[in-house]
Amino acid sequence: MRSERGKIMREVLFVDCCVRGDQSRTARLARAFIGALDKSRFHVTTVDPGREGLKPLTAETLHVRDELLSRGALDDESLRFARQFAAADEVVVAAPFWELSFPAILKVYIENVSVAGISFEMLADGMRGLCRGKHLVFLTTRGGVYEGTAWADLEQGSRTMEALSRFFGFDQYICVAAEGLDMTADPEPLVAEGEVRARAVAAAL
Ligand SMILES: Cc1cc2nc3c(=O)[nH]c(=O)nc-3n(C[C@H](O)[C@H](O)[C@H](O)COP(=O)(O)O)c2cc1C
Repeated sequence: MRSERGKIMREVLFVDCCVRGDQSRTARLARAFIGALDKSRFHVTTVDPGREGLKPLTAETLHVRDELLSRGALDDESLRFARQFAAADEVVVAAPFWELSFPAILKVYIENVSVAGISFEMLADGMRGLCRGKHLVFLTTRGGVYEGTAWADLEQGSRTMEALSRFFGFDQYICVAAEGLDMTADPEPLVAEGEVRARAVAAAL
């Protein structure tokens, strides 16, 4: 896609897993991030896996997918989310911290975009990510505090996203997390500070 001045725009895919919608503090980080992107350089496409009705893989859907892959039908409509994910120049995922990681809908999205031959490939000596994205940016908010505490190893959300970033072949993983939101009567300063960090990351892309 080109800007009005004919410049090639970088495609940002925003994966919105902020389950609580308008109530979501994570969504505030996402709005701050997207608002701070240079719109003369970036074009943003949003995908909301919940609204799209994405489903967990089952024996039946895996069978269908295997059959498509076995005949090289990578352009099938059912694989469009994987193609979109792999083609994005930047991917931004926003999801709250739930049960020490993230909501199931994000895992469902990952199952749907993780397709051999589109977002990664198996080689004789291992695997290789096929995503063209430069950065995988993960925006999250947590009720408790984990970073730099005795609970740090319980934090499995960002940790999983970082591993996936490497698996899919992104050049760099960046996490912006606001923590301790449910441990204070007034989380507003924590959210506002997270917004500042989210804007700074977006401005530096
Ligand atoms: C279903 C659910 C599970 C949660 N699990 C955790 C958890 O394991 N650890 C934690 O520190 N906070 C947990 N929280 C608190 C959220 O991480 C926190 O409120 C976060 O800011 C919610 O983000 P949101 O405002 O974008 O929805 C949970 C909240 C919900 C609703």
